[in-house]
Parts: sequence; structure tokens; C-alpha cells
Amino acid sequence: MATDTPVAPVARRNEGYQDLRDLLVRFEEMGELEKIDGADWRLEIGAVSETVAARNPGRAPALLFDNIPGYPKGFRILSGAANAYRRLAVVLGLPEPRDETELVRAVRARMATEFKPIPPVELPTGPVMENVMRDEAVDLLAFPAPFVHEHDGGRYIGTDDAVLMRDPETGWVNAGTYRVMVHDRNTVAIWMSPGKHGRLIRDKYFAKGAPCPVVITCGQDPLLFIAAHQEIDHGVDELAYAGGQRGRAIEFVRSELHGLPIPAFAEVVLEGEMLPDQTRLEGPFGEFMGYYASEATELPVVRIRRVYWRTNPILTLAIPSRPPENFTFARATVKSALIWNEVEKAGLPGVAGVWCHEAGAGRLFNVIAIRQLYPGHASQAGFLAATCHAGNYAGRWVVVVDEDIDPTNMFDVIWAMATRCDPPEDIQFLKRAWSTPLDPLLRAPPWQNNRAIVDACRPYDWKDKFPRVAEASPELKRRIAEKWPHLYK
Ligand SMILES: Cc1cc2nc3c(=O)[nH]c(=O)nc-3n(C[C@H](O)[C@H](O)[C@H](O)COP(=O)(O)O)c2cc1C
Repeated sequence: MATDTPVAPVARRNEGYQDLRDLLVRFEEMGELEKIDGADWRLEIGAVSETVAARNPGRAPALLFDNIPGYPKGFRILSGAANAYRRLAVVLGLPEPRDETELVRAVRARMATEFKPIPPVELPTGPVMENVMRDEAVDLLAFPAPFVHEHDGGRYIGTDDAVLMRDPETGWVNAGTYRVMVHDRNTVAIWMSPGKHGRLIRDKYFAKGAPCPVVITCGQDPLLFIAAHQEIDHGVDELAYAGGQRGRAIEFVRSELHGLPIPAFAEVVLEGEMLPDQTRLEGPFGEFMGYYASEATELPVVRIRRVYWRTNPILTLAIPSRPPENFTFARATVKSALIWNEVEKAGLPGVAGVWCHEAGAGRLFNVIAIRQLYPGHASQAGFLAATCHAGNYAGRWVVVVDEDIDPTNMFDVIWAMATRCDPPEDIQFLKRAWSTPLDPLLRAPPWQNNRAIVDACRPYDWKDKFPRVAEASPELKRRIAEKWPHLYK
């Protein structure tokens, strides 16, 4: 099973990191890594991951589980890798931010100015090839895939993952995060929502009755997870996108069976084919909106014929659950920056901030702050934020607020909704939008939902006569803070 393939030397960047293992060292130095021994893959790892993340959104530590009963020491699971603002800044190579908005601004500035995709570079081999299971030797049960929630239908080896598939017509390789359930030693299921890139690619193979080649990374650099689970445009190579974020190319090796790219420093990677003519029940699985909205369904069987893995492998775990989830902070930050850039690209001026609240799982309750410049500006902002690619899938509420409201602060946002929004006038609806079977309000295809665009800005035509806010001026606040500093520590 093990191979002794030499690992190609790769230049290190002093200020950066090479892989997940370097990051763990850094997280530990930062005091942001908790190590947990002896938690069971049956429910315990899921429950600890969920509850620790929910206790302190945006600031909870990453969790590294080892000595998992029934598995050799060193076969580990990492939960919530980049799901806190200090760690996310490290992963994205940004300075340590003071708060969420500063981080969103930094991500956005990177995307708007210095960002360009950097194509991945091929290596002859890499650490991921340290061990290879082939054909009959494939045994997925050798890895401690967790059984996450009591009502789940199976063990999930892929949650914080990247599923790579090649478009048979264009050659474009897409990477998407889709859940992967283990059926047995050598088959899995992949659930892809209607309209998602991976599903469109799969359907092209199936239309010709052909199996669909696939590579699944089940433990990797959080940058790859971020690239795979954000709505990156069709045709964009997510490995090049991740390279652009990192400032240097992502290294890959070619998979043995299908020549698909495998991140060279990934931890555990499966390769095989989705079969057009065999199905098996998948799910249910606790979902990102916080429910079990969809039942178990028959999905194509994915036959796994290769497993590539590093010695002492680390599976990465992101568990959909009742929010806040152990991945929604990172999603909220990057998605907020993407929406901000996309609405500006569509011509929207005066944006002061965007935040996709974790209470809406980073998708369903998004707030955009603007400096109102003309009549209709707030409606334009709301509809653009609701329909641009990054904000479109499974959205429900978009709230538009003035620039004196902090969009990340739910208290501020609710105050604006409570005092600047006249519901019959200021709430507009968008119907038949792109959603998913995971939406608990939807019961049947075509999985379209309805949305509210809430204008919680001062009415444009008399905004300058709107009653003055009753609070101390910034100058007065500064003066008293200097005079009685102990009150404001
Ligand atoms: C932890 C996690 C699990 C996810 N699971 C699924 C899934 O099972 N199926 C799915 O279609 N999308 C899932 N998503 C959302 C997709 O990753 C996301 O919509 C992404 O844009 C898909 O890639 P694509 O745009 O290339 O299709 C998940 C996201 C996260 C963060």
C-alpha cells in the first residue's frame, strides 16, 4: 500500500505557509488550536465541533482530534480550520484585522486590485503520494470519517472538501465542495444541488451514458476549501483562484486514472468515477440551513479505485448544522467581499460595507450598507446583492442600510429596520429565484424561492430632514473616553 516515491522539493516562502501542517504549527503558536484526544467518530467529534464553534462565532479555536477510537494514532480530523478572523487572515495572507469589516475590506481590496488567478503548476510527485491504495486494496473505512448528527444516514468523509471534475466539452476543471458519504470500502455518494457546476458537468457525461471521472480531496489547505465552496464563476479554475489568493501557484500532481489535478500537499484524496447506471441511497445529512429538509435520495454510486494519502493523514471537517456553523464565519467574510466586488462591477456606487450574517448560514440574510446618492439607489443595491453570482444561490433576505449602520452588527441592522423601514412601502419581493432542495420552505422541484429586499435606509427624498440620531457626537465620545479611560477599556 505505501510507496516510497520521493517528494519533489518546493520553494518555501518565508511569509507564507506550504500546507495544512505548517498552518497547524502557526495556529498553535497563535493559541488558536485545541487538541482533543479520544473523541469517537460516532457523534462525539461532530457534537464537539458544532458546539465549540457555536459558542464563540468568529473567534472559536480550530479543533484537532487524535487517538480516535478504532483508528491508529495520527489519523486525525481537523474541524473549523479557518473559521475565525485571525486564522482566516493568516490563510489569506492578510494582516491581522481588528474586526470583521476590516477583514472584508482587506479581502475585497485584494480582489479588486492586486488579484489575478495564478495557474497551478504540475509536480512529478508530492506528499499526497506517500501512500496509495489501488483497486482491491482500496479501503475507505481505514479513515475515521465521522458520523456527525444523530439523524444522519451515514458517515461523511467529505465535508470540508474539494470535488474536482473535468468538463468533457471544454476541458475546464471545476472544484466544488459537495458532501461525500461513505457507502462501503470502495464506494461513496456525492450530493450536488441542481444547477451546481459539478452537477452540470456530471450530467454531460451521463447524457452520453459515460461514467464521470472525479477526484475528491478530503483534507487540504483551507484556501482550497474556500475556493471550492464559494460561488466562483463558471469557467474559472478554482486552483488558479486559490493560487491568486496565495500569491503563488498551487502545486498539483496528475491522478493516475484520469489525469485530473490533485493538490500535491493534500492529505487524503479519492479518485474514481460516478456511474451512470447504478444508484444507492444517500443521506439524510444535517444541512447548512440548520435542518434536515431533504430526505435520503437515490444518487449515482461513485466507485473509488485509488486513495492517495499522506502518512498520519488529516481529514478536514466542516459540518452543516443549526447556525452558527463551523465554517460560516469564513464563508461570510469571503462571500461579503465577493458580493461587494460584484455589485460594484455591475455599476453600484457608494457601497460602505457588506455582511452575510452567520444566522443566515452566510447566505440567507445579507446586509449591504450604502451612502445614498440618488433615488432608487437603495433598490438597485438590494436587487444586485440578491442576484449577483455570489449572492444569488439560496438567498432570502437582503437588507439595505445607510452608511452610519454597521452591516456586521445585528443590533444596528435591526434598529435600522425598526426605525427607517416602512414595511408596505420598503419591502419588495423577488420571485422564482435559484434555491435548493435544502431550503426547508421548499417541497418540490424546480427548487425556486422568493426573497425580500428590505430598504432600511432613510427615505431618499427627505433623508436630510429625517430626525437627527440621539447620541453623543464622535468628538464628545472621544473626549469623555480620554477623560475616563477605565470606563471604556
Ligand atoms: C461545508 C459545506 C458543504 C457543502 N455541501 C454541499 C453539497 O453537498 N452539495 C452542494 O451542491 N453544495 C454544497 N455546498 C455548497 C457549495 O460548495 C457551493 O455552492 C459551491 O459554489 C459549489 O461549487 P460550484 O459553484 O463549482 O458548483 C457546501 C458548502 C459547504 C461550505
